Amino acid sequence: MGTTMVNTGLWGARLHHFDTLPSTNQWMIEHMGSCAHGDVVRAISQTAGRGRFQRPWIAPAGLCLTFSVLFRRGADDWLHPVIGQAAALAVLAALEPYAVPALLKWPNDVLVHERKIAGILAEKTPDGHGVVLGIGLNVNLAEADLAAIQLLQPATSMWIETGLPLDIEAIFAGLLGALQSTLDQVMQNGKPYLLECWRPHDALAGRPISIHTADTTISGLYTGMDVEGRLCLKDDTGRAHTFWAGDVSIRHRDAPRDR
Ligand code: BTN
Repeated sequence: MGTTMVNTGLWGARLHHFDTLPSTNQWMIEHMGSCAHGDVVRAISQTAGRGRFQRPWIAPAGLCLTFSVLFRRGADDWLHPVIGQAAALAVLAALEPYAVPALLKWPNDVLVHERKIAGILAEKTPDGHGVVLGIGLNVNLAEADLAAIQLLQPATSMWIETGLPLDIEAIFAGLLGALQSTLDQVMQNGKPYLLECWRPHDALAGRPISIHTADTTISGLYTGMDVEGRLCLKDDTGRAHTFWAGDVSIRHRDAPRDR
């Protein structure tokens, strides 16, 4: 059986393909004037891939999936604040056929055995009305490739988790299909449905965590994600907090330091 090659974006929109770009998110932001809702831009390698909090996202050429999707202003704008979470669910669905036991870490990381396998970056378009959703999935990275990269947190790949090198084109096709169907289902069933799908796979459930924002760090017990996509936490004095954004670290009960 031949490889399934993707030739369209979401909902039949266009796929823009590049061997190299600085960043697919940046390309989409710069070209949104000529792109439509659902257009996808993919690059085999990025020279300035970026992650959350302006951190670099390093993905060696040909070993990872790196692409971005444009969501324009429209009838389903309510979805924009939780689009990263919906995308994380789609990554989980795309990993399922490969029996990779992934979990979700708020706001939208995908972890396997507490190592990150995929990162998602949702950025508002400069006009403030749309969203560019960028996904990076580690496919055929070996442990030696990861060792060569300066990582801010432990990472893994589909190859490491399955023991097999995988067909990246088939994984791209599966992930775009999963993204479209997850978004369709969330648009049809609303945010409570998204939360219902998230809960059984929540890597933070019952865990002591710290959340770091631009102004503060607060530690306590994770009490879940709410229906708006906010992180909920009870601090050590029993006070409840909610966060729209932040960087979460899991506190290990037997370790004095955050990881
Ligand atoms: C994170 O976990 O910090 C988010 C990482 C997002 C990386 C992807 S790769 C495709 C797209 N283009 C970018 O420059 N970033 C996102």
